[in-house]
Amino acid sequence: MNHLSTKLFIYLNELKCVKAIILHGGQGTRLRPLTHTGPKQLIKIAGKPISQWGLEALLKVGIKEFGIVLGNNHAEKVVEYYGDGSRFGASITYIYQGEALGLADAVRRTKDFVGDDNFIVYLGDNIILEGLEQLLNFRGSASILLAQVENPQRFGVAKIENGKVTTLVEKPKEPISDLALVGVYAFSPDIFDAINEIKPSWRGELEITDAIQKLIDGGKTVSYHIIRGWWKDTGTPEDLLDANLKLLDNFLVEDNRGSVESSKVRGRVYISQEAKVVNSDIRGPVYIGRGSVVENSMIGPFTSVGDDCKIRDSEVMNSLLLDKSEVSGIQLIDSIVGQSSKISKKTSGFHGSRFIVGENTVLEL
Ligand code: DAU
Repeated sequence: MNHLSTKLFIYLNELKCVKAIILHGGQGTRLRPLTHTGPKQLIKIAGKPISQWGLEALLKVGIKEFGIVLGNNHAEKVVEYYGDGSRFGASITYIYQGEALGLADAVRRTKDFVGDDNFIVYLGDNIILEGLEQLLNFRGSASILLAQVENPQRFGVAKIENGKVTTLVEKPKEPISDLALVGVYAFSPDIFDAINEIKPSWRGELEITDAIQKLIDGGKTVSYHIIRGWWKDTGTPEDLLDANLKLLDNFLVEDNRGSVESSKVRGRVYISQEAKVVNSDIRGPVYIGRGSVVENSMIGPFTSVGDDCKIRDSEVMNSLLLDKSEVSGIQLIDSIVGQSSKISKKTSGFHGSRFIVGENTVLEL
């Protein structure tokens, strides 16, 4: 092969991903009761739904065409929020999966959307903001990101031998390594043939991990990169609080678009339009959503307050208050208050309390 044809060969085998699929299906059972009125991917942390953090990271590396896979849990809310994507500078096509039959089932439904292109699959409940550029160009049939974890039983796990991925196991009882599959993948259309060859796993799902193993068994090339930075699978309330802390700490932009009266605002704080802070002490990093009112309270650090919340006579730190929630007369630490829930205390005196409160709940203490 001469120099020019070698270059052409590499070019033809290394096609850039131009499309991304973001999965919004699944039942969100592990996060109930925070997910009764909407899918978990739309839970807002530091002012944005979890999946929007992913969409924006993908836009940043140059992807503009997105396929969003919808499940059964309030899919209409996803469509209502993202629309045709133009608000985000993206073009969005919706693909209906319905029942959560597994990641590979979700991916196989995107075949027509993907066509002959290489593409990225991003799990909408993961937050992976760095390392995505490593997936854009790859040779072979798939490229995966791996990260060292302490609890490999919770993830898909990969064994690397002589610089090659040899074995992948989903949620192994006996871990074969501590390298977990991070929730973002790049595929060539070869993955669709591999998915056709797999059978449901012990948990009754078509696993994307098994489809990638099929590629390997069939002699196809699966490349990998190990990422060292922060990423999160937001499967549990603790994960949400951890993501809240990290996103506020690293990505919050300081701004005040609301009104602040007789209050102290210190550190990095974002106060949205139509939000009101009165006679309060705000210690960043703190995000306060649109139309929220904070009165006679101390907020922060590491606290996200959603839209249209009301906080009165309270102290809230290290917490996530979702849209339309209300707290009064209470001290909250490491807590999550679900959408439209209310916690109030009539008797005097603060006692630091930790709550994970679902949606539409009223707690009078
Ligand atoms: O977070 C990384 C892990 O994600 C990987 O290490 C695992 O190999 C991979 O299987 C996956 O495991 P999870 O058990 O965390 O996947 P989960 O069921 O939470 O689904 C991930 C996302 O995909 C979530 O946003 C829901 C969506 N989903 C899930 C299923 C099963 C769908 O859209 N359709 C589905 O059928």
